[in-house]
Amino acid sequence: MNNDLATVILAAGLGTRMKSRRGKVLHSVAGRPMIEYPVGLAKALGATRVVCVLGHQSDEVRGAITKRFGTSAIEVVLQKEQRGTGHAVAQAAPLLAPKSGATHDGLLLILYGDVPLLTVQTLEKLRALANEKTLAIVTSQAANPKGYGRIVRNAAGRVERVVEEKDCSDAQRKITEVNAGIYCGPSKFIFAALEAITPNNAQGELYLTDVIERAARELNVATVDASTEEMMGVNDRVELSKADRIMRLRLAEHLMREGVTVRDPERLYLEPGITVGADSELGPGVELRGATVIGSGCKIEAGVIITDCKVGDDVHIKPYCVLSESTVGSGSILGPWAHLRPGTVLESEVHIGNFVETKKAHVGRGSKANHLSYLGDATIGAMVNVGCGTITCNYDGFSKHQTVIEDGVFIGSDTQLVAPVRVGRDAVIGAGTTVYEDVPAGALAITRTKQVNKEGYSAKRRERLTRDRQQDKQRGAAVLASEFDHVDTKAEVHTGLQATKRPKKDPPG
Ligand code: UD1
Ligand code: CA
Repeated sequence: MNNDLATVILAAGLGTRMKSRRGKVLHSVAGRPMIEYPVGLAKALGATRVVCVLGHQSDEVRGAITKRFGTSAIEVVLQKEQRGTGHAVAQAAPLLAPKSGATHDGLLLILYGDVPLLTVQTLEKLRALANEKTLAIVTSQAANPKGYGRIVRNAAGRVERVVEEKDCSDAQRKITEVNAGIYCGPSKFIFAALEAITPNNAQGELYLTDVIERAARELNVATVDASTEEMMGVNDRVELSKADRIMRLRLAEHLMREGVTVRDPERLYLEPGITVGADSELGPGVELRGATVIGSGCKIEAGVIITDCKVGDDVHIKPYCVLSESTVGSGSILGPWAHLRPGTVLESEVHIGNFVETKKAHVGRGSKANHLSYLGDATIGAMVNVGCGTITCNYDGFSKHQTVIEDGVFIGSDTQLVAPVRVGRDAVIGAGTTVYEDVPAGALAITRTKQVNKEGYSAKRRERLTRDRQQDKQRGAAVLASEFDHVDTKAEVHTGLQATKRPKKDPPG
C-alpha cells in the first residue's frame, strides 16, 4: 500500500425532508452550496482523487463543484438507485478499486455531501490513525443519539460493529456513542469488504457500516471523537439553518482573532474565503459575499451588502449600502444608501453619498457625489464636485454612451449630462443645466431659461382661489337640496350625487 489518499463523497440522495425542488447538497451553508465543504476538505487534505457519487440532480451538483474547484477537480460516478451507503461507495470501485485495474492502492477517505461542519483537524487525526491494518472512524458522544448508528464495543472497549437505530435492541438503543459515518482505511480492504455485504437488515439497504464489522474482525478499528455539532448532518431546513449559523459564527470568530471587531457575530453573513484587514469593524447585518476583500481600519456599518468587491484601507461605509463587483479606494466614504453597481472603480478619498447609484463609473481621487445622483458609463477625474441630482443620461434606448468629466470640474445641482459628452478640465456647469454638447476646459455651461418675476402675484392668486372655493360650496349645497326634493332613500341620494356634474373650475393661474 502507498500513501496516496483518495476520497469518495456520497451525495446521491435527494434529501426528501428538505421539501425542495433543489437537491439537498445544493442548498447553501454560509453562502456556499453544501457540497463545496467536503470537496474543500478533501482538497485541503491533499487527496489525489476525489470521486463524487451523485444521483439526484447530478448535473447541477457537478456544476456547483466545478464552478468552485475547476473541471478537473473531481471525478463523478452515478448511483441511479439509492440502495444504501455501502452500495453508494461501491459505485466508485471501477475508478478506484485496485482489483478493477485502477491504480489506487492507498487510503480511502469516505465523506458525506450533507455533513458540512466537519473540520480538517478531525480528518487529519483520522488519517493519521488509518493504515494498512487500521480502519479509522469518526464517532461522537451524543446527548440525543436518535437516528444515528450506535457504536457497539466489546468488554475490552474495542469497537465490534455499528448498529443502525432501526436494527437496535433496547439495550443498544441506549448507547450514546454514535457513528458519524466518516471513515478512513485501506482502499483495497474497503472495496473487497463491500463486495460481500448483503441487504440483510431492517431497511433492506446495503450498509457501509457492515465494513466496520468486518474490519473489527480482520483489522483494527480506531476512533476519533468529534463534537456532535461537527458531525451534524443536514436533513431538513431546521438543520440547514443550524449549520449555516454555526459556520458563519466560525468564520466570524476567525476574523475576530485576526483583529476585526464584529459588532454582532450572530448577524454577520460571511462566506468562506472573505478577508478583512485588522482594525476593521463590521456592524450588525453586514453581508460579505463572493471574492470580497476588505482592507484594514475600515468601518462597515449596519446592513451593508458587499459582493465581489475590493475595498481599500480606512474606508467608511455607512448603513445600508449595496456594492457589487466594484473597487473602493482607501479613505473613501460611502452612504448611507449608496449603490455601487458592477464596474465601479473609486480611487482614494472619494465620497459617494446617499441615493447615489454608480455603474461602470471610474471616479478619480478626492471627487464627491454626495446626494441623489446616477453616474453610469462615466469617467470622472480627480477633485470633481458632482452636485445633488446629477444624472448621466447614458442610454438612448439602443446603446450606452460615455460621459467624461475631467479633473476639477464643478457640476451644479440638477444637471443632466446627455452622453456621449465631455466636460473639460475645471469647467463649471450651472445648476439645472442639460449638457448635450462638449464643454471646453475652464468654461461655464448653462442652459437655463430666463427667470421672470411677477410682482404681487401670490396675494392675487390667494384671493382668486378663495373666491372659487366659496362659489363651489354654494353650488354644491344647491345641487344637494334639489336632489333631496325627488329621492326617498339614502342610497339613492348617494348615487344621485355621484352622477352630478361638478361645476368646472377655472384652470390655475
Ligand atoms: C448513516 C450511517 C449511520 C450514521 C449516519 C451518520 C449507514 C448504514 N449508516 O446513516 O451509522 O450514524 O450515517 O450521519 O451507513 N447516500 C447515497 N446513496 C445511498 C445512500 C446514501 O449517496 O444509496 C448518501 C446520502 O445522500 C447522504 C449520505 O450518503 O449524504 C448518508 O446517507 P443516509 O441515508 O443519510 O445515512 P443514515 O441513514 O443517516
Ligand atoms: Ca443522514
